[in-house]
Amino acid sequence: NTKTFIFDLDGVIVDTARYHFLAWQRLASQLGIEFTPEHNEQLKGVSRVRSLDLILELGNIEASQEDKNKWLVQKNTEYLSYIEEIDQSEILPGILTVLNYLKEHKQNIVLGSASKNARPILEKTSIIHYFDAIVDGNDVTNAKPDPEVFLQGAKKINATPTNCIVFEDSVAGIQAANSANMISIGVGEKEVLYEAQFVFPDFTHIDTTFLENLVKK
Ligand code: G6P
Ligand code: MG
Repeated sequence: NTKTFIFDLDGVIVDTARYHFLAWQRLASQLGIEFTPEHNEQLKGVSRVRSLDLILELGNIEASQEDKNKWLVQKNTEYLSYIEEIDQSEILPGILTVLNYLKEHKQNIVLGSASKNARPILEKTSIIHYFDAIVDGNDVTNAKPDPEVFLQGAKKINATPTNCIVFEDSVAGIQAANSANMISIGVGEKEVLYEAQFVFPDFTHIDTTFLENLVKK
């Protein structure tokens, strides 16, 4: 039995969601917009451009394209400064065990991320070799909750969506997986990710019996 396991990147594989948050928060405060961790949940999994629009909507700010471009560069520059020296220590607990299990059992491993910075992060953390296919923010036109990123991932290795399992830490990503007809597994809080078919606090709670059952299904 071969299944396709699709992983989101930020907040699932690596602990970078907090860096996105810090960089957005700095920009928001500079613009006089209150931006809380609760607001940030809406931004997880969402593209850079869409994220800025959501923040500006929060502050009721209408901006020129020129200003928006400037702010997008500023946010990404700050984010890049955080991930410049990222290494294996930022890989979230339990991830390597799960990736190794899937590899040993000849399952497909795919990345499905909205980030345009995905590849350098996978390279710097030395895990890019695990992935049979990578779909990131440079490949998709429709951001999560649109299922495009996951459907593209499935297509790259000729998998049927119903044979795909998605790991996500974002509400938008769980919705994307559900509308792609894939099994959705939330990594984070049940109260936030209640639309997921399964939710675990982190990957150390996903044991081999659970994975085995997914493979057999
Ligand atoms: C992921 C993160 C978002 C981020 C988006 C775009 O989905 O969850 O917080 O805004 O990717 O990332 P990028 O690195 O291209 O700005
Ligand atoms: Mg994420």
